[in-house]
Amino acid sequence: MFSLKNKHAVITGGGSGIGRAISVLFAQQGATVHIIELNTDAAAQTIDEIKAARGSAFGYTADISKQEQVLDVFRQVGKVDVLVNNAGIAHVGSLEGTTEADLDRIYNVNVKGAYNALYAAIPVMKANGGGVILNMASIAATVGITDRFAYSMSKGAIIAMSLSVARDYLADNIRCNTISPARVHTPFVDGFISKNYPGREDEIFEKLSKSQPIGRMGKPEEVAALALYLCSDEAGFITGCDYPIDGGFIKLNN
Ligand SMILES: NC(=O)c1ccc[n+]([C@@H]2O[C@H](COP(=O)([O-])OP(=O)(O)OC[C@H]3O[C@@H](n4cnc5c(N)ncnc54)[C@H](O)[C@@H]3O)[C@@H](O)[C@H]2O)c1
Repeated sequence: MFSLKNKHAVITGGGSGIGRAISVLFAQQGATVHIIELNTDAAAQTIDEIKAARGSAFGYTADISKQEQVLDVFRQVGKVDVLVNNAGIAHVGSLEGTTEADLDRIYNVNVKGAYNALYAAIPVMKANGGGVILNMASIAATVGITDRFAYSMSKGAIIAMSLSVARDYLADNIRCNTISPARVHTPFVDGFISKNYPGREDEIFEKLSKSQPIGRMGKPEEVAALALYLCSDEAGFITGCDYPIDGGFIKLNN
């Protein structure tokens, strides 16, 4: 079950955290993995790990917010069976704590970046008779979270754009879903804790862990397992859905 043998999977942000775990697992399941990354060294580390386990992986240095760069990568990749729009960045702040530059930065990567990869992948998938898309949203898309104005906006856009794509390409045999994690322990989380709460790292880490009723943060590998299921043929009846993976955050926080 859950084989990705002979499939080509493009994964954005595969150099770190959730994207890295997805890249490693998809390669383990037989996919040829194509990582689009801003951070060339980070992508190289994921690729080394995959190759050490006799998997197949390629890296492409590109900024997903730049359409020409993304189109150029997809021209090099060729066939695409699976696209995982995972790369994303964070911003902590209420509306008043969000400058125009902050909003543009989050929009350009989290929203336009996903659009750019979809824009490049869909025609290739159509020509190949179908494909699967998974877009990384967040519980912040559907729950009011303190000080996440721009980030929540961007993840709400991910869910909306995924529904649009799922609907428009039904007849082309393209499925499109989203995953909405609560807090997952990755460099993304460590980075924004140290940037926004210097000197209070342990206290904030503990607080963020406890905000999941299950009592801890998720692991990247747990998100990767759900991603594998949704991108596999076994999930062939699933499209236009958002899957929380949240330690009870949405339904049990009362
Ligand atoms: N970690 C969490 O708690 C959490 C929770 C919910 C949703 N998410 C989402 O999951 C996704 C992955 O998060 P993570 O925690 O693994 O992050 P991470 O910071 O550990 O990894 C993100 C990777 O994306 C790459 N990247 C960033 N901007 C890029 C760009 N413009 N072009 C190409 N690559 C770029 C980075 O270099 C990095 O390697 C993000 O979309 C994030 O919003 C994370």
